[in-house]
Amino acid sequence: MKSSVVGHRGAMLHALGDPDVVGIENSYQYFADGLLVIEDGLIKDLGDAASLLSKYPDLEVVIHKNKLITPGFIDTHIHYPQTAVIASYGEQLLDWLENYTFPAEAQFADTQHCRKTADFFVNELLKNGTTTALVFGTVHKESVSAFFDVADQSNLRMIAGKVMMDRNAPSNLTDTAQSSYDDSKELIERYHQKNRLSYAVTPRFAPTSSAQQLELAGKLLHEYPDLYLHTHLSENKKEIDWVSQLFPERTDYLDVYDHYNLVTDKSVFAHGIHLCDRECERLSQADAAIAFCPTSNTFLGSGLFDLSKMAQKNVQVALGTDIGGGTSFSMLQTMQEAYKVCQLKNVQISPFKAFYLATLAGAQALKLEDKIGSLAPGSEADFVVLDLAATPLINLRMENVKSIEEQLFVLMILGDDRAVDSTYSFGQCVYSKNGSTTSE
Ligand code: GUN
Ligand code: FE
Repeated sequence: MKSSVVGHRGAMLHALGDPDVVGIENSYQYFADGLLVIEDGLIKDLGDAASLLSKYPDLEVVIHKNKLITPGFIDTHIHYPQTAVIASYGEQLLDWLENYTFPAEAQFADTQHCRKTADFFVNELLKNGTTTALVFGTVHKESVSAFFDVADQSNLRMIAGKVMMDRNAPSNLTDTAQSSYDDSKELIERYHQKNRLSYAVTPRFAPTSSAQQLELAGKLLHEYPDLYLHTHLSENKKEIDWVSQLFPERTDYLDVYDHYNLVTDKSVFAHGIHLCDRECERLSQADAAIAFCPTSNTFLGSGLFDLSKMAQKNVQVALGTDIGGGTSFSMLQTMQEAYKVCQLKNVQISPFKAFYLATLAGAQALKLEDKIGSLAPGSEADFVVLDLAATPLINLRMENVKSIEEQLFVLMILGDDRAVDSTYSFGQCVYSKNGSTTSE
């Protein structure tokens, strides 16, 4: 009979903490020849292959040569219905929403379209080594059930929610305060904490929700344990002006969400580019997180995220692709863009910091660091096998790297989906570049 304990042998790297807090040397663990032991979907052991193998004499071992094994990437802000909106030319946020995004989202009234896009989207995540994502659906509840059904088939750890939007949007894309509450509740009953799925209450952003809808969102958020709150915050200057006109009685943008009890330790706010000191302090106090979405911020001309200010104010930050405002599903490419955005702010983030942001920080933002984001024993075995010779150029450049730090930097600057050899979820291979998976 096949043993339920399996080993994976190869170079291994995982983050242990934020390099800016614990120092670079304490922020990661690296094994040049490591062994990851997995039992029933969980990581049972991790260490140097030479010493650990003697503890498991009959272990079935998969060998990964010239590869780097890391935790699966965590994308803390992405819109699955915007998969086909990616690379839409020329606009900034509000016009981009009206001209490209809303028409694309209207197509999700068709359940077949939901299912087809969800299949494509989940495949794209796995192909890029992303094992957990915090996902926007559309206003249609069927968009979210289609996504959850596809994610559940591969036993993925995913979080999603139905958009709540009852004003300032086309009539075929609006719900009402009451219907958004009822539909969200129905989805929560059906999917929240089913296998590895969780639900996020998802008002699109303050301008497209009435006070009554935000009030019901806040009520719903506190009716079930461990629900997330997922929305947008302070992305674009015109958006911020609009929010202050719509909610003149509130101190600032975050205060709108706060007023309706939407700022909790399981709240993830996408962007947060133009936050004032008070907003940062409040986010820190609530232990809420910001999803830094660098490819979207440059593509939509939204602005340069201030990572140093967030560190100074002790705000939890993780990374998001923000597809389709973002331009790549690849968290490696997202790490690259984060590096470039910080360069323009005259801050050089280390490859270990970028790697932390794409893995453990995502888990911390989602309050899931006991389950995902690292290779620590006890964690769920969600990991990615990166190919150190994925392209001729990467191969050439890798010939003269001198450290794991440099190797990681080359991967994040030159790597994309081609650098993902295979992706594992709960110990099962769910994507392989050569086409075979063990989950079939
Ligand atoms: N703000 C409100 N909706 C959206 C969206 O779909 N994408 C982005 N990037 N920002 C938003
Ligand atoms: Fe977004």
